[in-house]
Amino acid sequence: MATGIVAGYGTLASIAARFLYPSRKTEENWQFLATLDSIRAGQSMIYQTPGGAKVVVARRQAADLAESFVALSSVCPHLGCAVHWESQNNRFFCPCHNGAFDPSGTATEGPPASANQSLERFPLKVQDGLLYIAISSEPLTRRAES
Ligand code: FES
Repeated sequence: MATGIVAGYGTLASIAARFLYPSRKTEENWQFLATLDSIRAGQSMIYQTPGGAKVVVARRQAADLAESFVALSSVCPHLGCAVHWESQNNRFFCPCHNGAFDPSGTATEGPPASANQSLERFPLKVQDGLLYIAISSEPLTRRAES
């Protein structure tokens, strides 16, 4: 009988611990973004995540590979203006204060470069002629807690 009571309290403690200290695992959800032929090399599009974040997706090369594309947050880390892709300059540009970012999202000019800020990058994959973007569910959790 004592063993049963100890096992019962142990199970109850385990359930309580999971409730009080939930796992903080970041899950990536792959979302359909576009067909490969709908974005030509040099073009870009804006994608809005289910959580409301805006992402600019640019196609830098013609090859049907995930590496031909780059997906970065379109919100400038300086003061939040919209960033857009400039294919002729191979960069992302913020017109508010002339902030510029290289294709990896690292700031190269303007106030974001002075503050060592960068744009959030989103993973991409190609499957069966379709482009997918990985959206982390963690920001939604963080917003709910603040
Ligand atoms: S808001 Fe983008 S450089 Fe200032």
